[in-house]
Amino acid sequence: MEKDIIVLGIESSCDETAASIVINGRKVLSNVISSQIDIHTKFGGVVPEVASRKHIENISFVVQKALEDANMKIEDIDVIGVTYGPGLVGALLVGLQYAKGLAYSSGKTFIGVNHIEGHISANFIEYPELEPPFMCLVVSGGHTFIVYMKDYGEFEVIGQTRDDAAGEAFDKIARAIGLGYPGGPKIQKVALEGNPEAIKFPRANFHDNSLDFSFSGLKSAVLGYLNTKKMKDEEINEKDVAASFQKSVVDVLVDNTMKACKSRKVDRIAVAGGVASNLCLRENLIEEGKKNGIKIMVPKPILCTDNAAMIASAAYFEYKKGRTSPLDLNAIPNLKLGER
Ligand code: KG4
Ligand code: ZN
Repeated sequence: MEKDIIVLGIESSCDETAASIVINGRKVLSNVISSQIDIHTKFGGVVPEVASRKHIENISFVVQKALEDANMKIEDIDVIGVTYGPGLVGALLVGLQYAKGLAYSSGKTFIGVNHIEGHISANFIEYPELEPPFMCLVVSGGHTFIVYMKDYGEFEVIGQTRDDAAGEAFDKIARAIGLGYPGGPKIQKVALEGNPEAIKFPRANFHDNSLDFSFSGLKSAVLGYLNTKKMKDEEINEKDVAASFQKSVVDVLVDNTMKACKSRKVDRIAVAGGVASNLCLRENLIEEGKKNGIKIMVPKPILCTDNAAMIASAAYFEYKKGRTSPLDLNAIPNLKLGER
């Protein structure tokens, strides 16, 4: 039997300081997440300087807690995996420098992980039998991709956003209707009582057969709708706006992902990223999946939003491919999917 590989994952790319211990990329022993959401809510979004400072305050405690929860010491760890991009540079540097210091002092194998690949890897934790190839819809605050995952660590981008990310659109519209940050969960809640057919907002499609996304037209349409209503002094039904906006986003995400599957003759879709916890998206994907004989996989919400278990999992699969990182690895704020 092969020896178990125990990975300590560290994540600090945005507003969550997180550490986790995962065995063989699939079994989570601990998953500690220290969220800064309450602090950033006051400012209506993530303030990079504040995020970096909070990561510095939290990182040691979070890593210690992850080891304690797993009943382990640093000596028990085989690999230290850490997010080195994409993300906020100051925030990334905190986790990265901490991980490098720990790897150097303990002599452990060190692996830099792409945050988006981490999100995809959350599916290997939720579905222990899952193996590539499969189609993946990555929808987070900063990214929107349809990715064909050919093999572990091998990605082909089939579609991506040409402007705003799906989560970013949720956050911006939530702010416009006065719901605050983070917008996704708040829109979802308000939308539950609204009518998704009440207002016909646009669904952007490109005529070049591309499966790319664009959410800026939708955003302008919602803002225009709100402005017109205000100018006419008419009452705005926030619930209907939220439900109709959410349905527009979900419709294009589902539509394009189904088309991507058909074009590649793939019958499994894994969903990843913070927006993957959206109930409307989950329900619509499952419904369309049933009609088209496509299996839908969605990790539980705690594995969809930023966490370090997904980073530890991605680091494990990098390790199995023989890819490790040098200790002079730098943070890359705009790191691309599949780029090393
Ligand atoms: O993956 P994530 O935690 O961070 C990034 O890597 O960006 O995603 C955060 C994004 C935010 O834009 C947030 O509004 C959105 O995910 N989000 C949701 C939901 N929960 C989080 N969007 C829609 N519905 C949700 N339930
Ligand atoms: Zn993320």
